Amino acid sequence: MKAVRGWFGILALLCAIIPALAQEPMPTKDLYSTSSCVGCHGINAMGGLGPPIAKTKLSAEEFLQIVRHGKGMMPATPPEQLSDTDTQSMYRELENKEWKPAEIPISYKVGALLTTRNVAKIFLVVFLFAAVFGVIGWLRWVRLAGLKQMKPALRRFGYGRAIGVALQSLFVDGFLVKSLWDKNKARWFAHGLMLYGMCGLALADILIQIFNPTRADLALSDPLKLFPIICGFLVLLGVVYVMIRYRNDEFIDNGWTLGRDYLFVTLLFHTVLSGILTLAINRSTSHGWVMPIYLYHLVSITALIVSAPFTRFQHAWVVPTMIALTRVTEAVVAAGVDLGFEREPSPGRHHKSERIAIDVIQRVAPDLADKVRLRYYP
Ligand code: HEC
Repeated sequence: MKAVRGWFGILALLCAIIPALAQEPMPTKDLYSTSSCVGCHGINAMGGLGPPIAKTKLSAEEFLQIVRHGKGMMPATPPEQLSDTDTQSMYRELENKEWKPAEIPISYKVGALLTTRNVAKIFLVVFLFAAVFGVIGWLRWVRLAGLKQMKPALRRFGYGRAIGVALQSLFVDGFLVKSLWDKNKARWFAHGLMLYGMCGLALADILIQIFNPTRADLALSDPLKLFPIICGFLVLLGVVYVMIRYRNDEFIDNGWTLGRDYLFVTLLFHTVLSGILTLAINRSTSHGWVMPIYLYHLVSITALIVSAPFTRFQHAWVVPTMIALTRVTEAVVAAGVDLGFEREPSPGRHHKSERIAIDVIQRVAPDLADKVRLRYYP
């Protein structure tokens, strides 16, 4: 549980920092200070998450282009939110705004590091890190499953056939989660909320990349906007269900991975919640919250991905692989091909493993024999 407490510590810190970062919107009547721009460029236009834009050196045309199309992490603003005329007036206002270097906030110095290129670089490193450690962990399980020892049998069975069986299992057992469907439809549904919600979010991202590459802001009713929002809520619902289960299910603690399992659920919760908040805040008038919530979102995603190979997240690729390997082994045996080693098919495996474990412990540390608890991963 240490990791969990650590994460709560970070959260508590964020909770303390966020209100400090959020500027109080001032009741001035000019265009700039009542716009959403304030959230990122500061009440005096001396910077926030975005750069200072007081005394802007841009031409009026360049300014309009940036407002309409956005720039890096800055979202585009459509004419319905800020007309061309208002953009012009705001431009004049900014040209005449006083340059107050003392007001460039520390947060801007952080924000300045978060240019599109840097964010892309950070995420590249984060993804590489997760991929390398994810693959190392995955290979370990494949090795434990004895794939190498199966090679001669697989050759006789036919590699093509084996791949066919594996792919079918990846779809039926992995993607459709057949075992859970057979066992408990309610839990299959809750699990599906997260699994298919996440898949939907990934799909939406690809579709947006294709149909809205500039990520121009869309109406809420646009399918490209509505679909990811619905998926986000589905994931959130699923995660909340799991969090409640963690509180109420007395068997959820396997005595070993609880902290890391809960870390995954918590990070997923914060990623989705901050994503929904980011969306909501862009449409609200609490502009002071835009930057902190955006940072909260970035931090959540980063933590979720960096920790992925070490938390329950890895069940997403380890479990389907292990089931697929089991199915291939079953198919090989069913085809009458000699595996070359003894295979212990489930069920009944647990009791035997447990008996063996107790037997071993009884020999090496007899006083611990009644404390044996087996852990299956995942
Ligand atoms: C979500 C935060 C956010 C909001 C809201 C936002 N901006 Fe920005 N803005 C940025 C960031 C970040 C940059 C720097 C982009 C880059 O260079 O990659 C930027 C850049 C700019 C620039 C270019 C500055 C330069 O010198 O290159 C202008 C001008 C600008 N914003 C104006 C506006 C106006 C006007 C609004 C309101 C309609 C607005 N911004 C709303 C984050 C925001």
